[in-house]
Amino acid sequence: MNNDPSPLATTPADVAIIGTGYVGLTTAACLAHLGRRVLAVDIDAAKIAALRNGRIPILETGLDGLVAEGLDSGRLDFTTDYRQIATTPIVMLCLPTPHQPDGGLDLSYINAAATTIRPLLAPGATVVTKSTVPVGTHQQLTNWLDRPDLNIAANPEFLREGTAVHDFLSPDRIVIGAHTSQISQTVASLYEGIDAPIQTTDPTSAELIKYAANTFLATKLSFINEISRLCDHLGADIEAITTGLGSDHRIGPAFLRPGPGWGGSCFPKDTRGLTHLARNASQQLPVAEAAHASNQIHLDHVTTTITNLSPRPINETRIAVWGTTFKAGTNDTRDSPALDICERLTRRGATIAAYDPAASNDTALAQTVDDPYSACRNADLLVVLTEWPAFAEADLYKVAHLLAAPIVYDTRSIIDHNNANDAGLQLHQIGRPTLTQ
Ligand code: UGA
Repeated sequence: MNNDPSPLATTPADVAIIGTGYVGLTTAACLAHLGRRVLAVDIDAAKIAALRNGRIPILETGLDGLVAEGLDSGRLDFTTDYRQIATTPIVMLCLPTPHQPDGGLDLSYINAAATTIRPLLAPGATVVTKSTVPVGTHQQLTNWLDRPDLNIAANPEFLREGTAVHDFLSPDRIVIGAHTSQISQTVASLYEGIDAPIQTTDPTSAELIKYAANTFLATKLSFINEISRLCDHLGADIEAITTGLGSDHRIGPAFLRPGPGWGGSCFPKDTRGLTHLARNASQQLPVAEAAHASNQIHLDHVTTTITNLSPRPINETRIAVWGTTFKAGTNDTRDSPALDICERLTRRGATIAAYDPAASNDTALAQTVDDPYSACRNADLLVVLTEWPAFAEADLYKVAHLLAAPIVYDTRSIIDHNNANDAGLQLHQIGRPTLTQ
């Protein structure tokens, strides 16, 4: 283990990042890449020890390279010692805010961090919330810190897991919410070197922009999944529909890929968080409520489609599942629609053999296997739930040979119809006409 003293112990850091989850770690590594001196702080000693040796716990394209670059240059260091933030002019909070059963968020990590850093912060330091926090957190933080000399800002992240480094360094916009332009400029200085518009606003609006963005995107996905279900009944092709919709610049082509339903650690939490916030403000947000309800209907629709495609009663069916992460490019299975569907199928009595190239956690499943073909052996059908590129390149002849029945349900539309046909497979995709041989 690297026990050397931090190079930043002698040269103060420009910014301290509290919390080294995927937002904190990406932010720390990218800011160091931009030339800032960054100290990342976490209470998890084992994680910090691993990070100081360049070992990162998440699958995130390009992140290991940037962490190594930051460590080598001396611009990035990791510590469990909060006292080191005493000379740091900016402190960013990248802490979890787990959701509670009523849709509200648990702010205890932020409260605890505020209590810890309060006596340590340098006079006039700026404390910034970076990971998603409920609207109004800046006010709560101001109360918890209770030091009039400190500045507070909200600077929400818009990082997608799997492409977080790219999203950080090439963002569509940087949003900074603060009460004075001087505070905004202090936060903006961190991003020198990034070519993107900077939107400055008040902290409440900055916090709400994040919730509105995630809920809008989730709503767009619920809508396109609804249209894909309609295509199944009308014989229309969802690919033609999304091309037609996406070429209208007012709609745009992004986030129009139908799938098994949306999930992950952010969309479900944030759509519920927004409607919870609205209820507390005695307001109704029927569109946001419907986005969530529609997603539940879609997950159920996918489960029923699988049940109907099965050549046997579902409680006698053995299903091969490809993909358990909530999307490709990450090892994250939190709130994964794939796992949700596996659980629904298991409740109906199906037996599942699942394969995922990266998933970090598969406890909800009966059986996980180490390669995609083992999952298919003697299965009654294959269901593709995550869009890993390797699945598009799989040997479909081998799949056809191993399956007990040649049925494939590809919820991500990544398998080529002609290749499946050539291999003798009956390929079904959401919202797409099934080609018969
Ligand atoms: C999301 C947002 O996209 C980020 O901007 C935001 O910063 C992040 O949440 C967060 O709040 O931290 P992420 O959860 O990593 O990012 O995942 P997305 O890429 O947005 O995908 C969310 C879900 O939508 C996944 O289940 C994905 O498979 C699904 N999806 C996405 C589709 O089904 N179709 C699409 O066209 C796009």
